[in-house]
Amino acid sequence: MRITRRELLRLGAGAGLLSATGWNPLLAGSDEPILVTVPSSGVKIPAVGLGTVKFRGLVGSAEMDPFRDTLAAFHSGGGQLLDTSPNYGNSEAVLGHLLEGMGLREDVFMATKVDREERDEGIERMEGSFSRLGGPIDLMQVHNLRGTDVQLDTLFKWKDQGKVAHVGITTHRVSQHEDVERYMRTYPLDFVQVNYSLADRAAADRILPLAIDRGVAVLVNRPFGKGDLFAAVKGKDLPDWAADIDCTSWGQVFLKYIIGHPASTLPIPGTSKPHHALDNVAAMYGRLPDSALRAEMERLFDEEMVS
Ligand SMILES: NC(=O)c1ccc[n+]([C@@H]2O[C@H](COP(=O)([O-])OP(=O)(O)OC[C@H]3O[C@@H](n4cnc5c(N)ncnc54)[C@H](OP(=O)(O)O)[C@@H]3O)[C@@H](O)[C@H]2O)c1
Repeated sequence: MRITRRELLRLGAGAGLLSATGWNPLLAGSDEPILVTVPSSGVKIPAVGLGTVKFRGLVGSAEMDPFRDTLAAFHSGGGQLLDTSPNYGNSEAVLGHLLEGMGLREDVFMATKVDREERDEGIERMEGSFSRLGGPIDLMQVHNLRGTDVQLDTLFKWKDQGKVAHVGITTHRVSQHEDVERYMRTYPLDFVQVNYSLADRAAADRILPLAIDRGVAVLVNRPFGKGDLFAAVKGKDLPDWAADIDCTSWGQVFLKYIIGHPASTLPIPGTSKPHHALDNVAAMYGRLPDSALRAEMERLFDEEMVS
């Protein structure tokens, strides 16, 4: 049975999840999430995704409970984009099982990856993802540029056949940015996925401007520097300007810094905690920082938070 968003919100409120974040989408009334348009397809996606690198455990056991609650919280706040990979333990199987049981499989924008060098191994790996995820794959990405040319050859054929909707490549390393840029100039990619955050701004030099020029959407991994950004602001009050962009937490500030970039940027923060998922989706409501405020965020981070 499908759970409606309103029912999920009620469940979240009952569990004290919404008040824990200081934000309640029910109170936001008709507030709609910020949508990011994929330039190549026109598909609109709510701006904050969910990274599922920690979704691992015995399917059907109590180990699934936090993952189910996290997906419910994420969905209740309007989230749709899930990022996984066949090499995140059994994350794909966990997602396939839980989403089916929650009646949410058709409501998500599913992004996964292929991580093989050879053509046949890549095809086998991706067929496995289809079977584990049990539904359409909206975005298939070449993971960390492994076998990029070979896998993209398969993927663009599959896209022509309607087997995958969008094609992309990923990295989380600045050392691969030059190669990412080269592939962006060579292939008609729908997405790139790169590391970018207040603490790690290299992607803004060339990749994000190129993404604007070439009409490529950008998934942003490590938006919290794997959690290091929270350590940098530990014990520090939110600046006064946080209220001007409707932020009630540092996490929302970090995500709005990314969403506020003029490229089609969608951060995919990783969490398996429901209250963190709600905190993160709250960043896709309300006002965004303009370029002057984004510059002030960078100054604050560089001068007052980096020890
Ligand atoms: N090459 C690639 O393709 C690649 C590489 C890296 C990552 N990724 C993708 O990108 C996603 C995000 O990257 P990541 O997970 O490595 O790093 P991240 O999103 O920068 O940081 C995750 C950390 O932030 C914490 N966190 C999340 N939301 C929070 C909140 N609202 N308040 C406080 N702490 C919060 C999490 O802790 P809790 O778990 O306790 O919430 C976790 O420790 C991954 O899950 C994966 O899907 C892709």
